[in-house]
Amino acid sequence: MNKHDAKARIEKLRREINHHRYLYHVLDKQEISDAALDSLKHELQQLEEQFPNLVTPDSPTQRVGGTPLGEFKKVRHAVRMLSLNDVFSAEETTSWVERIQKIVPGRVLDFYGEVKMDGLAVSLLYRKGMLVRASTRGDGAIGEDVTQNIKTIEAIPLTLERGKGPGANAALVSRSILSDIEVRGEVYMLKSVFEKLNADLKKVNMPVFANPRNAAAGSVRQLDSKVTVKRKLSFMAYDLVTDLGQKTHQESHGLLEALGFKAGTNNEYLNDVGAIERYHRQIGKIRSKLPYWTDGIVVTVNSIATFRELGVVGKAPRGSIAYKYPAEQATTVVEDIQVQVGRTGALTPVAHLKPVRVAGSTVSRATLHNMDEIERLGVKIGDTVIVQKAGDIIPDVVQVLSKLRTGKERAYRMPGRCPVCKSPVVRKKGEVAYYCSNKSCYAQQHESLRHFVSRQAFDIDGLGPKILEQLARADLVKSSSDLFLLTEADLEPLERFAEKSAENLVKAIRASKDVSFARFIYSLGIRHVGEETAIALANHFKTFDKLVDAPFDEFDSISDVGGVVAKSIYEFFKEKDNRRLIDKLIGSGIHIQRVQPTAHNTGALAGKKIVVTGTLASLSREEAKERIRKAGGDWVTSVSKNTDYVVVGENPGSKYEKAKQLGVKVIDEKEFTELLTS
Ligand code: IVH
Repeated sequence: MNKHDAKARIEKLRREINHHRYLYHVLDKQEISDAALDSLKHELQQLEEQFPNLVTPDSPTQRVGGTPLGEFKKVRHAVRMLSLNDVFSAEETTSWVERIQKIVPGRVLDFYGEVKMDGLAVSLLYRKGMLVRASTRGDGAIGEDVTQNIKTIEAIPLTLERGKGPGANAALVSRSILSDIEVRGEVYMLKSVFEKLNADLKKVNMPVFANPRNAAAGSVRQLDSKVTVKRKLSFMAYDLVTDLGQKTHQESHGLLEALGFKAGTNNEYLNDVGAIERYHRQIGKIRSKLPYWTDGIVVTVNSIATFRELGVVGKAPRGSIAYKYPAEQATTVVEDIQVQVGRTGALTPVAHLKPVRVAGSTVSRATLHNMDEIERLGVKIGDTVIVQKAGDIIPDVVQVLSKLRTGKERAYRMPGRCPVCKSPVVRKKGEVAYYCSNKSCYAQQHESLRHFVSRQAFDIDGLGPKILEQLARADLVKSSSDLFLLTEADLEPLERFAEKSAENLVKAIRASKDVSFARFIYSLGIRHVGEETAIALANHFKTFDKLVDAPFDEFDSISDVGGVVAKSIYEFFKEKDNRRLIDKLIGSGIHIQRVQPTAHNTGALAGKKIVVTGTLASLSREEAKERIRKAGGDWVTSVSKNTDYVVVGENPGSKYEKAKQLGVKVIDEKEFTELLTS
């Protein structure tokens, strides 16, 4: 392709990619699959590589994140970034309105209501329609330059749009694009992304984030924007600081939408205090179902002229308030602490609380996680504590109010024996948790069975905890393999079972016998092996025989399987009892489906183990990983003599040295891309 054609194609591709980005990240719509969009991005990337001087700062390829920074530059805000005063009740809201009415007597006040996003405030500077700088609030006057990181957020346009959405004022839109404008808004993390991020961090034994706000803030304030890109952040615009002639806050929002921002799908025009109250109630009802976290609404005087006239007190404007929902915390008394025995035998201490209402429901238990957490909190039985509920998560004890102690509180000690089977409790070296030492502990058996029949494992309908307990009591089912021996005649005499239900259950169990390899692995309940790891193991080993007899190094070499996990899998299969159970399961007629052949056996890198060290110019780490997998190779994180290639990018780490030491083949980025496409 010549340069002229390339330029035309590049421009078309950019427009198309940007269109789908906008649909997906701003309008929550999707017209083409992720894979198709990736493919367009890939073509653009390759063309830009071929014609590097056609690369522009607003190209979608510039969202991938650049080289890590040493520190953030300081940025002075042209207009101070303020915070908001909080109110918590209808009375406080009414008195806010009365207060400001006194300052502008006789003026008719109306308002604009928005959902308050729980994230991190950022300010975006667009020069002639192009994003040139993004900064954090900092102390309000001086913030930090986080442009590189912010560019990775797909909901933020790199170039302003020319009139998206309904009701755009064409004159204001073109004025925005011709001048310098400053847009402010909140970077936040969707609840679903937050949960996945924490699950991934847990898997590699890294500290988790306490809430989506910390996760969003931590991800933006990352010196390495390649980390930010993986965190999948979102953005909602809430203010257009620049005066372009818009008269109301509502108009600013319309303009922001026209320029291509998400600017609040649940926002509303509010004509008086009654409307504010109704809006607050309405958002309160739906807020737990919103895909992001919010702790209140923001109400702003709609007229921009009046808002300016009202001015600022301290660090907050008089013309806006944050009308918060009651905190999801309450205080109560710890009446007892008891341990629960899990599937792996780990003992989890649980606080039994004097029942208390927290954000609309009654809480009577809170997890204390483990002994270390009990010590960190310093919690004793009889203590008054603060409990916190976060979404649907099990409540937590966050603090002990030790000044309220009477002296009658009792320290908690981990029992020496399992509360269920009375076997000795042990603590493994280097681990936080205590365990019941009896492998056939009833509690462990019961939890293992629940895991075995769960939706992600054998997915057997009609086998809830109560029925499982009944089957265990009747001595019919001790371990999972016993399930497959059940007959209708066994079930019918039991309470709750009629002829029909016995028949249905036996049928459901029979139907579950045909199971995918990954589900089967997951069902075994190996410590640290969740669904994802089970899939990775299934894809790697293909057959069960290879899996059970694999050496430790082989587990360790699989991407996504860290050292701790590899050890746990390896030890699981070495254990005689586990082997016996597996033999029994297979003997009971389970059929493990074949793993569908993938590029693994046919791709350009079939069966090759590849380590990447340093930064690649054309691919992010995630992309490199994906490409290696697609070509049938294995992305491996540590170099051993089994590694086939070490790809060396810019600023390689110690893996490069190790490769040279072990005599592993070292290739550069160019050779690597050639290999991928060969
Ligand atoms: S208006 C003068 N609208 O809440 C400050 N703020 O507690 C203008 N926030 O610093 C803020 N969602 O970071 C506004 N829809 C929204 C918001 C919002 C979240 C944040 C913002 C602000 C903080 C104040």
